[in-house]
Amino acid sequence: MSGLAAKTGAINLGQGYPDFPMDDELVELVHKAMNDGHNQYAPMPGHLPLRETLAEKIELLYQHPVHPDTEITITPGGTYAIYTALTTILEACDEVIIFEPAYDSYIPNILVNSAIPVAVPLEYPSYKIDWEKVRAAKTDRTKAILLNSPHNPTGAVLSSEDIEELRRFVHGTNIFIISDEVYEHIILDGFPHLSILRYPDLFERSFVCFSLGKVFHCTGWKLGYCVAPEELTKEFRKVHQFNAFSCFTPTQVALASFLKEPDSYLTLPGMMQMKRNYFQHLMCLTRFKPLPTHGSYFQIYSYNDFSDQPDTEFAKTMVALHGVAAIPVSAFYQSGKDDHVLRFCFVKRKETLEAAVEKLINC
Ligand SMILES: Cc1ncc(COP(=O)(O)O)c(C=O)c1O
Repeated sequence: MSGLAAKTGAINLGQGYPDFPMDDELVELVHKAMNDGHNQYAPMPGHLPLRETLAEKIELLYQHPVHPDTEITITPGGTYAIYTALTTILEACDEVIIFEPAYDSYIPNILVNSAIPVAVPLEYPSYKIDWEKVRAAKTDRTKAILLNSPHNPTGAVLSSEDIEELRRFVHGTNIFIISDEVYEHIILDGFPHLSILRYPDLFERSFVCFSLGKVFHCTGWKLGYCVAPEELTKEFRKVHQFNAFSCFTPTQVALASFLKEPDSYLTLPGMMQMKRNYFQHLMCLTRFKPLPTHGSYFQIYSYNDFSDQPDTEFAKTMVALHGVAAIPVSAFYQSGKDDHVLRFCFVKRKETLEAAVEKLINC
C-alpha cells in the first residue's frame, strides 16, 4: 500500500511511521555524541550507560530489577530482537503459537528456523484472546507463545485476566514467552501497560522485546532491546554476536542521557491520546465505524455498513479514487480472513489527518 501511495501521491495512513519531527534535543545529543568521538563499535550487548538507564526505567515503570550487564541487550530494532529470540530457542518442527491478525515478521521468522507457526485467531470485533482456543492449539511440540501488546494491527491490549490465563497456560511446561512490547508507551484510554516484566514468574521464561525507534518517533533509527533472564540472554547473545554484533553507537550514547529524564517517555501516552482522539473526532464525518483500540500507532475502522467489497479491493479503490492509503487487515492473516476492516496510522501531523479525512468523507 505504501508503494501504491507513493506512486499515486496518496496520503499514506497505511505504514506505521510518524510524519512529524522527532525531539530536537535528541537530535542534538546525537550530533554531540558524534562530535565527542562516539563513532566506533559499541560493545556487543550495547552501550553500558544506555543499558543502565533502561534498567532504571524498567524498575520505575514495572518495579522489576533487571541487571544491565546480564539481562539487557541492545539490538538493531524490535523486529531483530524478536527474530533473535526465536532463533535462540527454535529447533526444526518446534511449534510457536501466534495470534492472528499478526505483525508480518512473525511467521517468516518462525519458518526460517524450520519451525511451525500455529495461528490462533483473535476474536472479532474485540480482538481479545480466546484462551480456550490457545489451549486447544497446545501440543507437546509447543516451544513458545508470541504475544504482542499493544497489538499491531488492532490496538488491543492484554488484560490482567489474560495474564492469569497465560500463567495457567505455561505453568508446568517448558514453553517460552516472547513478548513484543514495541508500543509500550503508545497506550491509551488510561489502560496500564501489562508488561511481562511486571511478573517475575513469567519473566523467568521470557524474551521481552522493545523498540526505541517506535517510542521516540524515529523508526528509521532501528534501535531496540531485548530483556531476558541471564541464562536466556547468554544464549540470545550467541546469535546476536555473529549477526549484527553491535548497533549504531551515537544514538545509543544520545539515548543514554535523554532517557535519564522520565518525562521523555511518561508524556508519550498523553500526546498519542490527543492524536488518536483527534483522528477519531475527524473520522466521525465519514461512514467508517471505529472498532475499540487502546494502543499502538493504529486505529482500525470497519466499512461493513456501506460496502461489501473485499478489504484489499476496497483499500486499492480508496487509493485510486480518494487518494488515501490504509492497510487491509486481511493482510495480517495467512488465510486472508476478511472482516471488512482497515488499519489507519494516526501518528501523523494534524494537517495530514485533516487532509486525509477530507478525502475519506467522499468514501
Ligand atoms: C508489532 C510490531 N513489532 C515490531 C515492530 C518493529 O519495530 P522496529 O522498527 O524497532 O524493528 C513493529 C513495527 O511496525 C510492530 O508493529
